[in-house]
Formats: sequence, structure tokens, C-alpha cells
Amino acid sequence: MQASPSTSPTTIDAPALRARIVQQRSRYLSPSLTTFPIYPDDPMILVKGEGQYVFDETGKRYLDCTAQNVCISLGFAHAVTLKMVSEQMQKMQHCTTLFYNDQPARYAEELVGRLPPEVDWVIHLVNSGAEAIDLAYAMARAHTGSYEMVSLRNAYHGLHFGAAGSTAFSPCRTPVAANQGFVHAIHPDQYKGVFGPGVQPYLDELKRTIFSSTSGHVAGMVIEPIQGFGGVVPMPPGYMRGAFEIVREAGGVCISDEVQTGFGRMGSHYWGFDANEALPDIIVMGKGMGNGFPIAGVACRRDIAESFSNVRFFNTFGSNPVTVAAARSVLRCIDDEGLQENAARCGERLITGLNRLKDRHSLIGDIRGTGLILGIELVRDRKTREPAVEEGNRIQQHLRRSGFITVKGSATRNVFRINPAMCINFDDVDGLLDAFDQALATV
Ligand SMILES: Cc1ncc(COP(=O)(O)O)c(C=O)c1O
Repeated sequence: MQASPSTSPTTIDAPALRARIVQQRSRYLSPSLTTFPIYPDDPMILVKGEGQYVFDETGKRYLDCTAQNVCISLGFAHAVTLKMVSEQMQKMQHCTTLFYNDQPARYAEELVGRLPPEVDWVIHLVNSGAEAIDLAYAMARAHTGSYEMVSLRNAYHGLHFGAAGSTAFSPCRTPVAANQGFVHAIHPDQYKGVFGPGVQPYLDELKRTIFSSTSGHVAGMVIEPIQGFGGVVPMPPGYMRGAFEIVREAGGVCISDEVQTGFGRMGSHYWGFDANEALPDIIVMGKGMGNGFPIAGVACRRDIAESFSNVRFFNTFGSNPVTVAAARSVLRCIDDEGLQENAARCGERLITGLNRLKDRHSLIGDIRGTGLILGIELVRDRKTREPAVEEGNRIQQHLRRSGFITVKGSATRNVFRINPAMCINFDDVDGLLDAFDQALATV
């Protein structure tokens, strides 16, 4: 684990730096960048990252419980990522897929080695999660000859093109047209789901959705093993497997969106589908895959990829050897540094501590997730489960002052999502629990 660095000394003129960045961002960067603001009235300026921590312009250190949108898996400025990336930079910073190169070839073999051995997997690398999701849908459509895709309500699969069609909640749906051809089935939320806890009613509803809203033949279905942006809603045991059976009966292929859950973050398993004992046909990955470098990918059954091989698909930066070098450092270090096990240990300690806080603070309605993909739902009333939105905002500010950056998810923004880098330690966990305790007490 990374040692806790002390507060970073700073020699910069912090107020001047802040004023300049704020002025330049509002003058020259597009207002369209305001999607999902965390601290809209008092923006945070981050100047440095080290391990699981980030530093603002004054040198104040924070535990980054967001891992910059679940992208920092090993930690900031990780020595192995730095070494592998800079070695590749010195050799060749880009090599398009028109040519063959050592990095993606090696990476594909290493990644396939971490996938279920009973399937003949192949890898296609792209630059972002939404792009990988779109590629997966295109492959599913080409393979099945069907058009309609099923996703779950409350799902987040990205905001461009097809991915936006499958993302399913109102803050993400805009008057700008998303792609056609998506139907949304009811998600099996065990805390607030319309059918209450249980699995079968949700599977029955999936069958009804396919029957009523599609031709009966679908191209596929995509599921996040834990809905991340939707407020850390885990699929209950049996749902993913049951849904995949229904989708295969309707002629579709099954896609696991592992953009948040993949690469050991769940602690108990390397992949979310494994935790759900479900075998997908296509696996989409991104975020922590590159420890902050922009790389995403699709792992796909060879026969599905072959159906797509005569479709013209090209992207300029996919398989960039520098980002692939970063991705190789992730595979290597998760194993060498025992980061999956660390995610399990720290996650358990967090859950135990949060349950203790739940006994004392009625604002905590539910604690869910596993490893370092955890959610804390705040409610005003445990019976009605009315979202405690304002209270959550005040807690978030308190946590920031105490040195913890957090983000909230769900359509109502009352679920704290705890996704720090996988190198955190017990001191970080205990510090976060203390800060939550104090914040909850003040609210
Ligand atoms: C589960 C999931 N899928 C897909 C995406 C889209 O990834 P990107 O933002 O890299 O396009 C996200 C992004 O948050 C995600 O959480």
C-alpha cells in the first residue's frame, strides 16, 4: 500500500492560480462542461495526485473517494505505470491499428488470461467507456441481425450515441435525440424497487418488456453488475444469470458493463459477472483499466467479433501503445500488490464501520455494494425513504473541509459513492468513517 504522504508544501501563489484557472475555464472552456458538478459554488482545483490522495492549489491533501470517476485504480503517480508509460513514450507514442505493435498484442493475451477460460475471447481496444459500449451494441446487432437492445432503468452506460440511448434516467435524457432501438426494463433495486425485494418479479417484467416493446427478437441486453452512477445498486444474486437466459431465448447476446466493477475493485471478484455467476458474451471495460489513461475495451466471443469483421469500423487512437502500457501496468500491479484483496479488506472495514454509524445516525437508510464500490443512501425517514438531498449536500461540504472528496449518485443525488483508489489503507478508512460520523452529527 502507498504510505500516507504529508501535506504537500506549496510555493505557488494559490489565490492567483485559482483566480486564473477559474477565469480561463469560464471564458474559454465550454459551458457544456457543467454536467455533473460536484461543488458548483466553490469549484475545486486539483494540482497534484499521489497514491490515493489529491492536493488542491493551497497544498491541502484530500483522500479522493471518487478516484477521479473510478479511473485511478493503482493510485496517482504509480511507479510502475510511470515506468511502463515513459518507456513506451520513448519508443513510440502512437501506432495506429493499421500496423502491428507489441503492446496491444501482449495486452490482449494478458487480459484474455484474466477472463473465463471456457470462452474463446478476443479484445478490441478503444478510448472511452461509451465508445466501447457502442462497439458492443454494434457487434451484438451485426451478430444477431436484430436491432433492439435492452438495458435497465437507472442504468448509466455513457452519454454519447448508442450508449446514451441505453442510459436510463431523466437527468441524462435531454432534448438532443439519443439513438433509437433501446428499451428499458425495470431494475431489480432491492431497497426501493417497484416490486420490492426479490428477483423473480423483475425477471418476469423483463420478459414482459421484451414481449411488449420489441419484436420478440433482441440484439442483446446490457447490465451493470452494480449500477454505479445510478446510486450503487447491486444486481441481486440470480438476476443477471436469469436475465441472460431470457435474453438468449430471445436471440440476443449478453453484455456485462464492467466499466466500474471490473479489475478487482469489487474485492471479492475480478469481474462483476463472476460475482453474479453469470457468463456474458461481451464484456465492456474502461475507467480503472488504464489507471487514469484513456483506454477502454470490449472483450468478445470470437464468433461475435467475426460477424462484425466485415463492418467498417475504425478509430484513430484505439490501441495506442502508451495507454496500453498503462493498462498493462494495471493488470500487473493488481496482482503484484494484492490490490483486489486490499479492496476486499478495506471495503469490509468500511461496511462494518458504516453499519455502526447507521445504528447511531437515522439519516443513513442503506449501505450497499462490495469492496471499493460502495454506496451510502441518505434518507429523511427510513420508512418513506424520502431522499435527504440537502442534508447530503451539507455532509459533502463537511467532508471536503475534513479532507475527503466525495461524489453522490442516483437520480436524486442522495447516495454517497465511495470508490477510492485500490491502494487505500486502514488509516484512510478510519479517517473517512470519523469524518462521516462528525458530518452526520452536525447535520
Ligand atoms: C458503467 C458505465 N458504463 C459506461 C460508462 C461510460 O464511460 P465513459 O465516460 O468513459 O465514456 C460509464 C461512465 O461513467 C459507466 O459508469
